[in-house]
Amino acid sequence: MGLISLGLIILYSKNLGVNTDGKILLKTLHAYLGYVFVINLIVRIIYFFSNDSYSNWKAIFSFGKKDITTLKLFIKALKERNMPNYLGHNPIAKLMISLLFLLLIIQAISGLVLAGTDLYLPPFGHEIAKWVTGEDPNKLAALQPGSKENLDMNAYNEMRIFRKPFITVHIYAFYSLLIAILLHIVAVILSEIKEKSGLISSMITGNKFFSKKPIDYDNDE
Ligand code: HEM
Repeated sequence: MGLISLGLIILYSKNLGVNTDGKILLKTLHAYLGYVFVINLIVRIIYFFSNDSYSNWKAIFSFGKKDITTLKLFIKALKERNMPNYLGHNPIAKLMISLLFLLLIIQAISGLVLAGTDLYLPPFGHEIAKWVTGEDPNKLAALQPGSKENLDMNAYNEMRIFRKPFITVHIYAFYSLLIAILLHIVAVILSEIKEKSGLISSMITGNKFFSKKPIDYDNDE
């Protein structure tokens, strides 16, 4: 939420009358929150590979022939209002989570590049600062984010061309994320209403309740 709110303010900073210093402060706050977000994302990705449950990467990111058939059967069952129960994620939820993760990874990578091109922050900031100052150590030492002083203008203009696709991707992934998050929330609420399995509370307790046996429960005990 913090990243989205600050991102929105940066996006509309001209209309809001934010001056250059204010914009740099907003971008810096956004980038620091971005680092927390990136660490979180890395921890979650490690968890995908280090557990053997329904949140394992293989249980979610699998797009084989079998998964497509399962998805088609699930959609057919949905249309017939006979939705099967899933202990883990249902086939549409798996697609949704895959899309969300793809967008989050795109946002993290493009954000880290932008933190370098706009604020000269790690992990790429030092290299970018060297580039835009034409590798002049005095200019490098005096370089400030948002200031046009101490720049080698040719190198700076080249860097701005390099940066362009990253900001475009960051903005489009941002709008796509907003739509994906909204769809995700609507889907979770609809599933909860239809399944009545305690899907939302299961995100905290890990317990779901079913009226019929979940079709992905393979332990016959
Ligand atoms: C879910 C995660 C994220 C969301 C929703 C998000 C959203 C946004 C939005 C909407 C903007 C405004 C674009 C504009 O400049 O007009 C922005 C800019 C920016 N973001 Fe992110 N961002 C995210 C993650 C990150 C991360 C991880 C970093 C870096 C650590 C980052 C660094 C930046 C920087 C430096 C800018 C300023 C670019 C500029 O305007 O020149 N962002 N972000």
